[in-house]
Amino acid sequence: MNLLDILRSRTVTIPALLAGVTLATGTAHAQLNERPYLVGSGESAVDATGRSIKNQRVRAVHTTDDSLLGGTAYFLDKDPFLAYQLGRNLNFREFRKRDGVFDKNSIATLIAAMPDGHTAKITARNQVSCGSCHGRPYATPGGGVTFAKDSGRGRNPPHYFGGGIVEMIAYQVRNELLAKVDTNDDGWISNTEAQAYPGNLMVRPTPGAPPIDFGSPQLSEGLTGIPNLVTMFRVWYVDSQGRQVPQATRVDGVNTLGYNVEMTTFGRGQQLAGGTNSNFRALNPTLRAFFWDACNAHMNLQAYDPTTLTDPDANGVSIDSLPGQPQFPITHRPPDLGIFKHPSGYSSTDPDSDGYLNEISEGDLDLAEWFMLNAPRPAFAGTQVEFDSGVQLMKNLGCTSCHVPTWTIKTKDADFTGDRRFFDLDVTWDPVDQRLEGEVVPLYTMVGDVYQRNFGAFTAEGFFSDMRQHDMGEGFQEFGYDGVHNTIWRTSPLWGLTGNFPWGHDGASLTLRDVIMRHDGEGAASKAAFEAASTATQDALFDFLEKLVVYDIEQLPTDVNGDGIIESHFVVAGVDTGTERFNAEWLFKTPLQIQGQVVNAEGQTITSFAGVNIPDAYGELLPYRKDTDSDGWPDVWDVSPTLPGFKDGIH
Ligand code: HEC
Ligand code: HEC
Repeated sequence: MNLLDILRSRTVTIPALLAGVTLATGTAHAQLNERPYLVGSGESAVDATGRSIKNQRVRAVHTTDDSLLGGTAYFLDKDPFLAYQLGRNLNFREFRKRDGVFDKNSIATLIAAMPDGHTAKITARNQVSCGSCHGRPYATPGGGVTFAKDSGRGRNPPHYFGGGIVEMIAYQVRNELLAKVDTNDDGWISNTEAQAYPGNLMVRPTPGAPPIDFGSPQLSEGLTGIPNLVTMFRVWYVDSQGRQVPQATRVDGVNTLGYNVEMTTFGRGQQLAGGTNSNFRALNPTLRAFFWDACNAHMNLQAYDPTTLTDPDANGVSIDSLPGQPQFPITHRPPDLGIFKHPSGYSSTDPDSDGYLNEISEGDLDLAEWFMLNAPRPAFAGTQVEFDSGVQLMKNLGCTSCHVPTWTIKTKDADFTGDRRFFDLDVTWDPVDQRLEGEVVPLYTMVGDVYQRNFGAFTAEGFFSDMRQHDMGEGFQEFGYDGVHNTIWRTSPLWGLTGNFPWGHDGASLTLRDVIMRHDGEGAASKAAFEAASTATQDALFDFLEKLVVYDIEQLPTDVNGDGIIESHFVVAGVDTGTERFNAEWLFKTPLQIQGQVVNAEGQTITSFAGVNIPDAYGELLPYRKDTDSDGWPDVWDVSPTLPGFKDGIH
């Protein structure tokens, strides 16, 4: 084997390279659209920046025993930065025909119904990646291009930086409702408990802040009827044991004796759909559901997820996912129900009949959810003094009655989950260097080789939403495909505002002035206050809003190892990687070793960030991960582990 062959072989590890042996040979080189090869290898799938996806597409195997090497419990507990990176890559990779995108015949189909029950809601199955619509800046969970959903005027995707914090705040509000009203602690609200609760559900976003009104848990007719909670809550009705009663639309005191709720926090808002059984007006209650839902809607990749389907007490709420968030199978059930199963546990149901089975696995959802849970939060590109005076300005103009500045996630106890993330990327403004700088703050304690999460409290400053929806009147009115008008929208969290450009649910506002001037209805008073303000005040407001930013997570100068400095020659696995920055690959159990100095086609010496130990660093050789024939089916699931078969392991 000559040097070029060694460089070409993506499966060579450095120790193996030194010993002159290959561990395995990839069989599907030509079919990879990942870019794992080294500069100078002569392959096409090369990336000197190291930012492209390096790992092969392999269905992840869900496990709960973290001693099973390469299962998802192992990754989350013992190599969590790798789990994060694998989830990142599921969020940003372009899925291919060989992964099962689309179906046999159709691309770009109209699906799902508008409130009239007939008009299609969305042009679906026309994308191959979350990154097709999210990714400003590139390869981040940023906002993106406006596309065909709800109205011919379009829908604009918001960023999901800090997505885990949004999910945790929403679940905390739901748990506050239960903590206050469900007095016997059985996980649902009975008609007598509802009747006994005085007044509205008032929730303080952070200690000392004015409480936010989430509506009344009481039933409209005392012991029967419907609760009058805000539209972010989606309600279902249950029997005397707390079990969901299908089709029920109210507590009738006979078949239905109470209710349960989820908070549908993700999505900007939409018209009522699906009859009278709900008052929900957004899309998904959890990150995991958003991942499988978007995989299905946009790519026609169907997920099979026993985690979501496991609801032992039939109350509509599942067991905790591996990252720790219960799902709501009552309202959100992944499309592949596993009606037919292979003995190894994956689904052979194939809902879209394209021959590709179990297109997204339960383990893939564990990893994708892990990334979304831990996705770094937006930052403020200014000093604390500038932040405080901006908040004061927003207060003066009445903006903060909806755009509530700060929320606190409470420490774990009997009622609350605590901050379930395993690290925080704290990004602040350095006024001397005039730049944003990051710091990786561990939210775990090492216990042996396990990264045990702390589940502590966390305060999200500068979040700017009340987690409610409001009637915003004519300015933000959406004229739906079916001709129905919608004026009800979730208060956009303003953190990471620049990442949502252009603004509004429809992305129709190309300036901040324009989007503020669309605040009618409940927003009319603060729009008037803005209009009446001096030019200097308005400019100060714009200046402040422009400092609410997202950023390129992986390029930002960042203290990764917690030594208090950002090194300009950060050495990983013996090689200088340049300015210290948050690249999760540096923090793997086996850190990625980069190619380093190499001569490019123009004769310049450059630093190549291509990886030389990808199989080791990415855990591709671990028993539950190994995919010898590179067909996307891990050997443990593959009926013919050495003969590629993209559809089911053999075909
Ligand atoms: C075709 C474009 C498109 C693709 C592809 C896409 N999204 Fe989105 N995404 C959107 C739009 C538009 C919205 C806003 C939807 C709404 O308001 O109803 C959105 C909203 C979201 C939200 C909610 C953010 C919030 O603040 O409420 C999350 C999370 C999200 N997408 C994640 C994903 C993931 C994960 C994938 C891939 C599995 C994905 N998206 C693929 C367009 C897309
Ligand atoms: C009554 C509640 C309310 C008040 C008061 C309010 N807003 Fe909003 N704001 C909203 C809602 C709801 C949206 C989302 C509109 C949509 O989705 O189209 C929004 C959207 C925005 C956006 C666009 C966000 C994006 O990502 O597209 C900006 C910027 C904004 N508001 C700034 C302000 C400022 C500045 C003030 C004070 C002058 C203010 N808002 C007052 C409810 C409010």
